[in-house]
Amino acid sequence: MPVRLVDHPLAHDALMTLRDQRTVAADFRSTARRISVLIAAEALRDVPTAQTSVQTVLAPATGRRVASDIVIVPVLRAGLGMLEAALEIAPSARVGYIGLKRDEHTAVASRYYMNLPAKLHDSFVLLVDPMLATGGSAADAIDAIKAAGATHIRMACIVAAAEGVATLEARHPDVTVVTPVVDPHLNDRKYIVPGLGDFGDRLYGTL
Ligand code: PRP
Ligand code: URA
Repeated sequence: MPVRLVDHPLAHDALMTLRDQRTVAADFRSTARRISVLIAAEALRDVPTAQTSVQTVLAPATGRRVASDIVIVPVLRAGLGMLEAALEIAPSARVGYIGLKRDEHTAVASRYYMNLPAKLHDSFVLLVDPMLATGGSAADAIDAIKAAGATHIRMACIVAAAEGVATLEARHPDVTVVTPVVDPHLNDRKYIVPGLGDFGDRLYGTL
């Protein structure tokens, strides 16, 4: 399973703001949105296009337009921090939701909500969840998206852990993960180290 690293300097600058424990929720939210634009742009780089032309005020201009249905799927709740950024650059995308919550003790994710658009077979599906830790949540979300018929799936995250990458490599080797960074390990509570803490709590001030 390929991992595509986002190398943009502005993404890495934003990542340091997110990692900084002093960053308050309002700044965390705006920074999450900013970095997500750069990550989503990279994740959507291979969306199919078709040649077309328009008439400018001076002459015809040929170019390309997106020729695929795009579906953005945020994993609730932290994935909501990336959704608006993805929609900003893909405004005609459809949106599906998957709700997953890790158990505080076992770190095993359980699904509590799902609402995916119909007819996903030919769609370009972008799963957005900022944290890929054990990989259990992402693997479950991708199971659900594939069960709904999708065949072209990509995942965008803000911090991936090596363990999560390995989980996806084993369970979904066809899904590319697009991320600025792969952190080396998880702590005994399955939080990414150095990571940035609990993304959902920092996004919504529920610490
Ligand atoms: C976080 C995060 C991922 C998951 C990653 O969500 O947003 O969904 O943990 O961990 P994993 O790779 O080990 O499965 P969490 O379950 O804390 O829920 P929240 O978004 O509601 O805070
Ligand atoms: N979820 C988070 O929000 N952070 C982690 O480090 C791991 C899972």
